[in-house]
Amino acid sequence: MTAHTRYPHAGSVALITGASSGIGEAFARELAQRGAHLILVARRADVLDALAEQLRSGDTTVEVVAVDLGTPEGRLELWESIAVRIPTITTVINCAGFGTFGDLAEADPDRIDAEVNLNVAALTTLTTRMLPSLLEHEHAAVLNVASNAAFQSIPHMAVYAATKAYVLSFTQALWGELRSTGVRALAVCPGPTETPFFDVAGEQDALTRRRTPEHVVRTALRALDRGKPSVVDGFDNALVARLGVRLVPERLLLWAAGRFVQPRA
Ligand SMILES: NC(=O)c1ccc[n+]([C@@H]2O[C@H](COP(=O)([O-])OP(=O)(O)OC[C@H]3O[C@@H](n4cnc5c(N)ncnc54)[C@H](OP(=O)(O)O)[C@@H]3O)[C@@H](O)[C@H]2O)c1
Repeated sequence: MTAHTRYPHAGSVALITGASSGIGEAFARELAQRGAHLILVARRADVLDALAEQLRSGDTTVEVVAVDLGTPEGRLELWESIAVRIPTITTVINCAGFGTFGDLAEADPDRIDAEVNLNVAALTTLTTRMLPSLLEHEHAAVLNVASNAAFQSIPHMAVYAATKAYVLSFTQALWGELRSTGVRALAVCPGPTETPFFDVAGEQDALTRRRTPEHVVRTALRALDRGKPSVVDGFDNALVARLGVRLVPERLLLWAAGRFVQPRA
């Protein structure tokens, strides 16, 4: 059991999905600072290339894989393009994801499909495929980006919250399976964070009290050092996520959660 020792980033190889912006990009910048080699994954090749160019330095190598992880073909393409590097990868950060706002009755079924495919299927497939080789290492980690939406069903974000509840549950169970190995599993649960997430979701005015991607990364890497199964970024967020759902009656909680994500005028 390697928990409670500092996780060694220097010289390690980290694969980061969703690295072209927001929290994934912040992970890439921080891990490059700490001396990790990087494999950056997202759809926009030009953005990834520009980031890779900035982060390459000295002995630090940065590779780019531009694929759509929302499709089985894209997931297979990722697997094939990293084939020779798989035995060297020790850190997997599943950060690619997006959210949809609005009532399900009015939702575009294809968009909902894409959301479940990316937030759930891509993360699960990559984790499952990577685990055997991660287990060969003395120190390795799977860091899955969930959300504080994972703790509470959210009207008007029903699918997003459900996908993140899956990520939290899946990762906590994995932590239990891996506790006597060198692989740490960690679910990172950010609250509202200032990234293009809200533009992508088409709701820029929702959840306006936001923390930064750098806050989330700092919180996550500290929790990884401590070998925690999950961590919520931000004291207020943690209080609501961990306590609120236990203390508040179900109907009131659902009403409040639905109100909370409504855009501010
Ligand atoms: N921001 C928040 O308030 C917040 C709160 C809680 C949790 N989170 C979670 O944090 C994670 C990162 O989100 P973010 O806030 O950093 O948003 P973001 O800036 O929009 O980043 C999303 C990342 O996912 C990638 N991506 C989207 N669709 C993809 C696809 N089909 N295939 C491959 N990559 C794809 C995007 O790159 P391309 O467009 O180049 O593909 C981008 O790099 C997500 O899982 C999100 O659910 C965010």
